[in-house]
Amino acid sequence: MLASIKTNEFKGSQSKALAMMYFRVAIILFGAQLLFGLIAAIQFLVPGFLFELLDFSVARTVHINALVVWMLYAMIGSVYFMLADETGEDGVHMLLGKIGFWVLTLAVTIVVLVFIFVQVGAGTEASIWFINEGREYIEAPRWADIGIVVVVLIFYWNVFATYMKGRQTGIMTVMVADLLALAGLYVAGMFFTDNISMDQFWWWWVIHLWVEATWEVFVGALAAYALIKIIGAKREIVEMWLWIEVLMLFGSGILGMGHHYFWIGTPEYWWEIGALFSALEPVPLVAMFVHVLYDWGKEQGIAKAEGRQGSVMNNGPAMAWIVTNAFGNFLGAGIWGFFHTLPQVNIYTHGTQFTAAHGHLAFFGAYATILIGMMYMSIQYAYGIDRLKATFKSKMAIFMITFGVLGMGIALTIAGYEQVLVERAELGGGWNAFFMAQELPWYIQAQMWRAIMGVVTFVGFIYLVWDLLTLGKQAKKAQAAA
Ligand code: HEM
Ligand code: HEM
Ligand SMILES: [Fe+2]
Repeated sequence: MLASIKTNEFKGSQSKALAMMYFRVAIILFGAQLLFGLIAAIQFLVPGFLFELLDFSVARTVHINALVVWMLYAMIGSVYFMLADETGEDGVHMLLGKIGFWVLTLAVTIVVLVFIFVQVGAGTEASIWFINEGREYIEAPRWADIGIVVVVLIFYWNVFATYMKGRQTGIMTVMVADLLALAGLYVAGMFFTDNISMDQFWWWWVIHLWVEATWEVFVGALAAYALIKIIGAKREIVEMWLWIEVLMLFGSGILGMGHHYFWIGTPEYWWEIGALFSALEPVPLVAMFVHVLYDWGKEQGIAKAEGRQGSVMNNGPAMAWIVTNAFGNFLGAGIWGFFHTLPQVNIYTHGTQFTAAHGHLAFFGAYATILIGMMYMSIQYAYGIDRLKATFKSKMAIFMITFGVLGMGIALTIAGYEQVLVERAELGGGWNAFFMAQELPWYIQAQMWRAIMGVVTFVGFIYLVWDLLTLGKQAKKAQAAA
């Protein structure tokens, strides 16, 4: 019976141990992301803050690259974590997997140090290779790019070989196919061309197709797996939803990329294509949202019919984060994305703080949430807990982080609204208008609130780390006592 996989099957699993290593680095990078975000937020208010020590451009670069990298770490960790449960086999070639982990971690450390220590200088062929490739979110220099591809190939080979050796469930089949697309797209961000339109064209193949197609499918598969493990959802039901979402996400996500081709010098037919397909993108996100709630309700119904007690949730904090994921994905990506996706709107909002509001809410809602949920699942496994209950710290963590990010999103939306009205509509855009709009009280107050809400988020993060470090041991003690 696949649906009744026990929480603590595969004790001593090699691939789960490797997953824990990935999660640990992920949480450290998440902390670094927040710290550099706070510095950049202060620089919006006090532009001279740390000038020539840690410039805004560098703080921002570290903030968003740490974001992408911690998420990739947590994604790799999540796959290694679910691998044994889904396939029925512990991961194969785990020594190779561990070597890959250390190589990647060393490379990431060097890249971050170089970003921090070499802040200014000429942009040449050599700097593309050794310092900064200059593509927002994936700025790692070329040598690291190549290293990342090699490590990802090792990871992929491990997952694929385990999958071939063991059971091939629907969830794992989607995962294996999706990972191939996800890894392959990274290569599109590695070509160099000095034509900025062409460069942006390919860059979006990574950025948009990642987050709006392959990463979304990834979290769909992950949510399906987690729901089976946590509330015992029926595999047939979650897999059926998963296949529908895969179809819809790839359908709308691929041509939806047109919403980034409005103003970069690509042909004008992208206006219509981008408008139509990107407007359809929230549909699968609604389906995902329905999916989680429907499964839960359905499971309760089945349990009742079978005369058992309704859904026994065996991991409170993980479930809370996964439900937040369903809401957050719909809100941040679906609603905030839809707001500015039509060219008639985007011509006003493009590149304003409105974009940043959407970026924060979407990355947090769609990805940070469920990946944190997976970390709680790994704690439950590591300590062999049958039912992991939320502690005061778990509750403070989810409340403060979610409240903080939501607060930042609202503050940035207000700043963006002011930019649209003053910079774009009133003053007609342009360099001067850009600066004038940023000196008005609406904008400055909004940036102040963003900084405050950033601190709230950071305090929540401290609760999260504290909780992850202590709750397993506590729960184990309580379980032994009971
Ligand atoms: C989880 C999924 C998503 C994530 C993580 C995400 C994240 C982002 C980020 C970070 C940017 C800014 C990129 C830059 O630096 O220029 C962006 C831009 C954009 N996103 Fe999303 N997004 C998601 C889904 C969506 C969806 C579903 C829609 C539409 C319905 C959408 C519409 C847009 C648009 C129109 C822009 C361009 C904004 C501009 O012109 O400045 N996004 N997204
Ligand atoms: C302590 C909390 C945080 C603070 C103070 C903060 C601050 C900032 C600042 C100042 C920027 C630069 C904006 C600009 O160039 O106009 C930024 C960009 C960004 N941050 Fe954060 N951030 C925080 C947390 C997060 C979280 C939790 C996420 C997602 C999980 C996130 C995702 C992003 C993204 C995607 C961008 C790029 C947005 C764009 O280009 O439009 N940040 N953040
Ligand atoms: Fe997009």
